[in-house]
Amino acid sequence: MRYVADRTKKGRSAWGLGVTVPEQMGVWANPTARSTSFGHVLSCRGSEARIGIPRLIPIGEQRATVGKFVAIRSGASVLVGMITEVNAERGLAAAGEFGAIARVDLLGEIVRQGTGAARFRRGVRDYPAIDDEVDVLGREDLRLAYSSAGSRLIPAGDLHQDPAIKASVDVDSLLAKHFAVLGSTGVGKSSGVAVILGGLMRARPDVRILLLDVHNEYSKCFGDAATVIDSNNLKLPFWLFNFEEMTDIIYCGKPSVPEEVEILAELIPIAKGTYLNYKSGTDRPSLARRTGRDFGFSADTPAPYLIQDLLTLIDERMGKLENRSSRMIHHRLMMRIEAIKNDPRYAFMFENANVGGDTMGAVLNQLFRLDSDQNGITILKLASLPGEAIDAVVCITARLAFEFGLWSDGGIPLLLMCEEAHRYASADRSLGFAPTRRALSRIAKEGRKYGVSLGLVSQRPAELDPTIISQCSTLFVMRMANDEDQSILRSATSEAAADLLSFVPSLATGEVIGIGEGMQLPARFTFATLPRDMLPCGEWGSRPLDPAGGGLGRAEFIRMAIERWRRATTNQAHWSEASMKGEPVPSAGPEGQSALARGLNAAGGDRPSPDLRSKLLDPERYKILKR
Ligand SMILES: Nc1ncnc2c1ncn2[C@@H]1O[C@H](COP(=O)(O)OP(=O)(O)OP(=O)(O)O)[C@@H](O)[C@H]1O
Ligand SMILES: [Mg+2]
Repeated sequence: MRYVADRTKKGRSAWGLGVTVPEQMGVWANPTARSTSFGHVLSCRGSEARIGIPRLIPIGEQRATVGKFVAIRSGASVLVGMITEVNAERGLAAAGEFGAIARVDLLGEIVRQGTGAARFRRGVRDYPAIDDEVDVLGREDLRLAYSSAGSRLIPAGDLHQDPAIKASVDVDSLLAKHFAVLGSTGVGKSSGVAVILGGLMRARPDVRILLLDVHNEYSKCFGDAATVIDSNNLKLPFWLFNFEEMTDIIYCGKPSVPEEVEILAELIPIAKGTYLNYKSGTDRPSLARRTGRDFGFSADTPAPYLIQDLLTLIDERMGKLENRSSRMIHHRLMMRIEAIKNDPRYAFMFENANVGGDTMGAVLNQLFRLDSDQNGITILKLASLPGEAIDAVVCITARLAFEFGLWSDGGIPLLLMCEEAHRYASADRSLGFAPTRRALSRIAKEGRKYGVSLGLVSQRPAELDPTIISQCSTLFVMRMANDEDQSILRSATSEAAADLLSFVPSLATGEVIGIGEGMQLPARFTFATLPRDMLPCGEWGSRPLDPAGGGLGRAEFIRMAIERWRRATTNQAHWSEASMKGEPVPSAGPEGQSALARGLNAAGGDRPSPDLRSKLLDPERYKILKR
């Protein structure tokens, strides 16, 4: 007979008390198993009970340690709680009956239904009485607690308390609000996301999932079920961008020029009206004289127009001016628009997207696969887009998701999964693109009503906008060392969950603490292991340097890395056209290119050999380095 004692970080003694429990039994499975009882209720206050534990109990297979679940036989039901603290009590030990006190948070109860079947439900209706018996929750009861949600469950991994039991996530509760996967770099967040989304696709094929893949690493995780969108096939017509997003694009994320912005605000609605009347066969020039408000358009209305019409309108206005500095303002604005329009990296806005038609339905179909009722996921490879445009693209996708949910009354459930969320919704309001934060927080606050859910992944919860994280009702917390991050999470969770979070700094890779509505009970578990070929990783795979495994030789590897590096800051279409023909990639020439493209082209390099070209899978992979 012996005690097992640990010393927790807080400095208090935590006692692991040995108690023999028949492994397969549950309290329901074996209601007369009084011999397994290891303690009695001493007091109860709100959802917290104090349990007296006898001092001398032989060490068995189960130990009543912090984080373990216990069953309290209370009248007709069995209350399920979690041990949050265990203390030795000298006075009680001297009295002979109890040697330690365990603090238990009551989480739910197992009740017998009319049919006689037992089921677990959250919350406690009947509170324990003094002297009610307490056991470690047996395997069957634990299994019951993790399986009787009455809704769709996905197995996410193996429970820490008993690896024979699957930790399940209740998909409906998960999507009823929002969720977040949090942890330091390399602890298995992306792999965990792949596990959750894989299960979610199978359990809820009706949910349309858009994954914003910041590091281009998810393409292989979902096999054929994934539709991958990159800069080559993305279609986001410029007219779909609202005014703030459009100015962010035109000024490449830098501060805009107020005089130029005023001109845009006035002329964009006119260009939209002009296009509308042009489509209906009316004479364009005469209509161009009318103001945008005559057509009921604002600069934010997602109505098509021609960029050439906008340029013509600016040019016409410039022609009527006599003041040289005003003319220069107009001229500079035209140059900026021309530069972006002719920059091949922005082809996803100006070329891929058919400018001359209302392609809004096609855009929504591409992003959210609205036209399909098959399960699947869309992966948007953000690292393949120009760095300056990413904020606006994230903003527009979040906005489109919300607006579609709003105007379709939530008819089709959508999930927007956002990696590196702290970049787009930073707690520091001076950082990032304000409209993106607004679009994400709008989903966080109101998305539930319109069937739009948010899944966030972040290494730094403390850097994430608190209003957004506070709307997440399910958290998957992985290893994290930073005190600030941990205290943010502790303040946002219940006491039992907060106690579980004290394990966060010592979790292993792939281990996670799941808390909130998506989990039946707060649980420490290990995410299911992904096969090697389905792990999130770069396009080169996890062993790019292993020739035996289909990888590359060292010299070739370095050469390709440099090539990809250069391409990340080079006019893409220009490069790929030349390289596909096997021609040397010329340095930037003055003809037919925008000033911006000329600047970008200055970093030209060697032409790739044909065999290298065939291996160039994703030249944009390293465009975004982690901030
Ligand atoms: N569920 C899992 N199955 C198999 N391997 C895993 C799993 N979770 C983590 N790993 C291993 O840990 C490595 C890192 O995992 P992952 O890329 O998911 O971490 P991360 O937290 O997303 O990192 P980062 O913050 O840098 O993006 C993986 O390459 C893999 O080797
Ligand atoms: Mg990751």
